[in-house]
Amino acid sequence: MKIVVANNLHIKYAEIICETIKESSKVRGTGIAERTPDYVSKKIIKGDAIIAIHNDEFAGFCYIETWDNKEFVVNSGLIVHPNFRNQGLAKKIKKRILEYSKEKYPDAKIFGITTGLAVLKINYELGYQPVTFSELTTDEAFWNGCKTCKNYDVLMRTDKKMCLCTGMLYDPKYEKNIKTHQYNSKVLSRLKNIKQALFLKKNKK
Ligand SMILES: CC(C)(COP(=O)(O)OP(=O)(O)OC[C@H]1O[C@@H](n2cnc3c(N)ncnc32)[C@H](O)[C@@H]1OP(=O)(O)O)[C@@H](O)C(=O)NCCC(=O)NCCS
Repeated sequence: MKIVVANNLHIKYAEIICETIKESSKVRGTGIAERTPDYVSKKIIKGDAIIAIHNDEFAGFCYIETWDNKEFVVNSGLIVHPNFRNQGLAKKIKKRILEYSKEKYPDAKIFGITTGLAVLKINYELGYQPVTFSELTTDEAFWNGCKTCKNYDVLMRTDKKMCLCTGMLYDPKYEKNIKTHQYNSKVLSRLKNIKQALFLKKNKK
């Protein structure tokens, strides 16, 4: 398995990357923002993505976006093809893209928003802290990216203060970010259930 900074040779995978995101979103049912092959290709050309390839087959992907004049970096669009799941690949990709983001944007704070327990767990182990949305970018364009998520109405109802996603922030200035204690998946799982009960119940009314 090769996990590398994507380059022009990988543009041919843009379609399958988007297709896999779309299919996974349907299966997961909790909402994942969709991406177009054109957008993914641009990220690849700019050297702002990490791709995992196994024998020329697409295995996984994640890309970088910058906001607020590069004050914030987001590692977004994480996807592992179903054939390669549960083998620790997402963790390797997230670790690689975090290292790469720190190299490329050394002064930026790095954050992600997700409903996925796997990603919450990976981020926590990499040194991210859960934060409220007030600690993240206020750039309209970032939040516009949530428009294709099925929970977008929740974000609008709360004036972008909260949603089903949890925000997680990695501040490279603080080495203490590196966790030495065990991640407790029950806590974040419970948080996710509470949010779903709160927001989705209101939604049905
Ligand atoms: C979420 C996803 C990226 C995980 O990829 P993966 O390569 O299977 O994940 P890993 O094998 O690296 O697993 C990392 C950890 O998360 C856990 N995990 C994996 N899938 C999980 C799930 N669905 N629910 C809860 N935990 C999960 C693993 O057990 C592992 O924990 P461990 O270190 O204690 O063993 C992949 O399932 C995927 O692409 N899903 C669809 C897209 C998506 O949800 N993207 C995230 C958007 S924020």
